[in-house]
Amino acid sequence: MTLGQLRTLLAVARHGSIGRAAAELVVTQPAVSASIAALERDLGVPLLAREGRGIRLTPAGETLARYAAECLALFEQGRDAAVAAAMPGRGRLRIAAVTTAGEYIVPPLLKSFHARYPEVEVFLEVGNRTMVLERLQGRQADLGVGGSPPEHGQIEGRPFLANPLAIVASPAHPLAGRTAVEPAALERETWLVREPGSGTRLRTEEYLARHELEPRRFLNLGSNGAVKQAAAVGLGITLISVQAVGLELEAGMLTRLAVRGTPLLRRWFLLTLKAGFLPGPARAFLEFASTMAARRAVRAALGQAGAGLPATAAGPGTGGRAG
Ligand code: PGA
Repeated sequence: MTLGQLRTLLAVARHGSIGRAAAELVVTQPAVSASIAALERDLGVPLLAREGRGIRLTPAGETLARYAAECLALFEQGRDAAVAAAMPGRGRLRIAAVTTAGEYIVPPLLKSFHARYPEVEVFLEVGNRTMVLERLQGRQADLGVGGSPPEHGQIEGRPFLANPLAIVASPAHPLAGRTAVEPAALERETWLVREPGSGTRLRTEEYLARHELEPRRFLNLGSNGAVKQAAAVGLGITLISVQAVGLELEAGMLTRLAVRGTPLLRRWFLLTLKAGFLPGPARAFLEFASTMAARRAVRAALGQAGAGLPATAAGPGTGGRAG
């Protein structure tokens, strides 16, 4: 079994076609077929089956493909680590960040990090919580930035920054300006929620369950931008990271509702695989992100929304693993 054969198997799995896999790998179709045949001979089981005009992986093929993806990702990490070991301060840093952190927290961190490690090449992938956990598990990212890690599993987290969540609405909303709003008053509102897989959505569901609220209307919106705009035009209310609405609050497009028990004090975590190997640039970023300089960089970029960030991530009520 060779890396080349595993790469070929993954390309066939991706495309469901020998021809398209060959095109991606820039080899001939017979070369792809020979590679797969060699794997099948090696294992003594079929890996592909015909399906209509295409091709699909057998259960054995799917199982091998999962391991192949991990092997190849580990191999890539090994290559990065070897380069970084030979040339400290150089190499690749692959970060996967949840949308909110990727848009508001990671860029200012990267600016300061880059000033210290100008030779490190950074790849930042931004998606929702589910994507971040998948990238870490699949070793396609060295480091994740997001909310608390799942209770059980292969991923661990180190809290490094506060992440207050508030309920916001248009300044024209009837509850805007009220000094003490009971959570029960929010049941008749339309709730604007992020897409499934989003950490913010998860927190919203937890919040509603904790207060036994069953709003009748939800609007599902696929990004922070859409949620903010929808709230600003009066479509509903939303629970969102204060750091994501700093500009809108400052500009008076949105306002915080004074709901009892809010803001919810949560934290941002640096996420890594428990059993994973961290290449040098990822280790450097992990250490850098916990420094005062890093927090200062984020505070400066966030303006008013950053002003509320405590000097350390372990402020009162920021919670343990459930941060
Ligand atoms: P999200 O994640 O941007 O995917 O909603 C935020 C979080 O995990 O706290």
